[in-house]
Amino acid sequence: MSDSASGPVSESASGPGAGDAAIRMLTAGSGELDDDALWQLYAPTPRDSPVLRVNFVQSLDGSATVQGLSGGLGGPADKRVFDTLRALADVVLVGAGTARSEGYGALTVAPEHRARRRALGLPEDPAMALVSGRLDLDPASALFAEAPRRPLVFTTSGAPADARGRLAEVADVVEAGTGRVDPALVVRELHARGLAQILCEGGPSFFGDLIAAGLVDELCLTISPVLEGGHGPRIATAPRTATDGSATGGSSMPLGFELGHIASSGGLLLMRWVHRDGDGRPA
Ligand SMILES: NC(=O)c1ccc[n+]([C@@H]2O[C@H](COP(=O)([O-])OP(=O)(O)OC[C@H]3O[C@@H](n4cnc5c(N)ncnc54)[C@H](OP(=O)(O)O)[C@@H]3O)[C@@H](O)[C@H]2O)c1
Repeated sequence: MSDSASGPVSESASGPGAGDAAIRMLTAGSGELDDDALWQLYAPTPRDSPVLRVNFVQSLDGSATVQGLSGGLGGPADKRVFDTLRALADVVLVGAGTARSEGYGALTVAPEHRARRRALGLPEDPAMALVSGRLDLDPASALFAEAPRRPLVFTTSGAPADARGRLAEVADVVEAGTGRVDPALVVRELHARGLAQILCEGGPSFFGDLIAAGLVDELCLTISPVLEGGHGPRIATAPRTATDGSATGGSSMPLGFELGHIASSGGLLLMRWVHRDGDGRPA
């Protein structure tokens, strides 16, 4: 875990919202953020220090979707941040549910981001990694067939052998758990492959697993100025381990985060939150 280029705004605190009780307006910075400024704002330093960053958009009333998809929540500004975060990552990690519902294609970044990556000595596109128990993923889909880099698929020892065999033709299939994929093993495997900057794009189930495992270093969260009405899921779902299917497991203690920054665009709030340890320091 590491600090990043722009350090957290708040001072040390011992609990959620504790510490400095003063209330201040968060006044806007001087000017517009162009793509270079966005790149600098989110760029991790140093790059080789491992960070697991998660990116989500949610409605004012806490929904991760509108009519089953995240697309109704974001806008052009959120997309610019989304693209910037992708371009800064060594690997984009996503649950199979998100890849299926959002129709993930091959992971490529825009030419201008490729140029920025080349200048840092990085491969032109980040790697792609999926998490799936059932392996209900189509090897002929663009996600695999058009991928510039061979994707990784993390699964369990109990994954269906036939699906595993088919996927192994187009991806590196890695066992990382028995009943469920263990996110700590995933992170270890990614690090072992030199992929230190991990961007997780969800979804809620996998984010819940990451939280329960205490692996989240940063959350980039966009708040969209809409009320969804309570139909969609929250951005995190606790792991379901009880026999009755109820959500259990993981820590019930809230994990503390410090504000990295808030930017805004047309009513969207674009925030970056950095995990801190119990002493209020960035973890
Ligand atoms: N607002 C946002 O920013 C945002 C971001 C992402 C997604 N979403 C939305 O969230 C919804 C999808 O939610 P979701 O919770 O289903 O997403 P998800 O976490 O991406 O997908 C769940 C699926 O991923 C696999 N998976 C996740 N964790 C696993 C583990 N530890 N071990 C084994 N397999 C694991 C399983 O796939 P198998 O079934 O293949 O075993 C599971 O069924 C969609 O509507 C999507 O649009 C919103």
